[in-house]
Amino acid sequence: MSHRKNESLPKNRVLRRTLYRLLLAAPVLPLMACPGSSEDCVSGPDTLTAEGIQRNPDGSLSCANCPEHPHGARLTTCGESTSDGGVKVVCTYFTCNNDGRRPEGLQEPLLGEADSLLGALHAHVAWLEAASVPAFLRLADELSAHGAPEVLVKAARRSAADEVRHTRAMQSLARRHGARMPEVDIHPFQPRSLEAMLTENAIEGCVRETFGALVTAWQARTAGDAEVRRALGPISRDELRHAELAWAIDAWASECLTPSKRDRVLQARREALRTLEHEVRSQIPPEQLVREAGLPSREQALSLLHGMAVLVA
Ligand SMILES: [Fe+2]
Ligand SMILES: [Fe+2]
Repeated sequence: MSHRKNESLPKNRVLRRTLYRLLLAAPVLPLMACPGSSEDCVSGPDTLTAEGIQRNPDGSLSCANCPEHPHGARLTTCGESTSDGGVKVVCTYFTCNNDGRRPEGLQEPLLGEADSLLGALHAHVAWLEAASVPAFLRLADELSAHGAPEVLVKAARRSAADEVRHTRAMQSLARRHGARMPEVDIHPFQPRSLEAMLTENAIEGCVRETFGALVTAWQARTAGDAEVRRALGPISRDELRHAELAWAIDAWASECLTPSKRDRVLQARREALRTLEHEVRSQIPPEQLVREAGLPSREQALSLLHGMAVLVA
C-alpha cells in the first residue's frame, strides 16, 4: 500500500534460523570424510583468457596456450567462448573462490605478482564486492522495469550501497598486506528476460550469496586477525540481508512466471548447489587463511553447505 512505501524488506525467519543454527552448530558437527582427491587451493582468478586458439590433431580444443595462473593454481579445463563477435579460449583454474553475487559478463582480473596469501585473498574479495555494485544496480533497474514491489527495488539499491562500503573495507584489509584490488571489468549489460534475471538471482543470490553470507559470518566469528573480525562483522549482517533479498525476489517470481519457467529457475538453483558442493568438496583452504582470515576448513564449509541445502532444494 502506498502509505508503507518506506518499509524495509521483512526478515526471512526461516533463512535466519537456518543460518544462525548452522553457525552455532557447525564447529561441533562431525567432520565428514570426503571421497576423491583434494588439494590446497589458492586465491586469485578462476579463469584467464588464452593467447590465441590452438587445436589438437583431431580438431578438439587444446589448452596448451592457457597462461600460468598468477598464484600457481592448477589448470582444470578450457573452453571456447564467443563474445563481442570474436572467439576466445577461457581457461579455468582450481582456486578457493566460493563467493557472492557476480554480474553477468564479469571478466576475471589479471593479477600482478603474488603477494601474501592474505593480501591476495582480501584483494580478491574486494574485487568481488566492487563487482557486486553494478550487479545490484542492474537488478534494481530490472526489478523496477518488471513491476516488482518497491520494497524489492529499494532493497537492491541499498545493497549496492552496502557493496560500496564492503569494497572499501576489504581494500583496506588488502592494503595492510601490501595487495591492491584488481580493476573490475564487466561487459556492457544487455536487456534480458525476466526468466534470465530470475535464473541469475537463483544461482548468484539464493545459492552463492546465501553461502557467502554464511562464510562471511563464520569468518567474522573465527578469524584470528582482529581487524578481519572487525571488518566482517557488519559486512556479514549486510550479506544476510542480501541473501534475504534474493529469496524475496525468488518468492515474488513464483507469482510472475509460468509453471514451466518457474521449474527451470528451480532446476538452475539446484544445479548451482551441486556445482558449489563440487567446488567446496575439492578444495582445502591453506592453513594460514583458515587461521588468520577465518575461512572455514573444507569439512566445515561442507557442513555449512549441507545445512543450507534444505533452503535450496
Ligand atoms: Fe558484500
Ligand atoms: Fe552481497
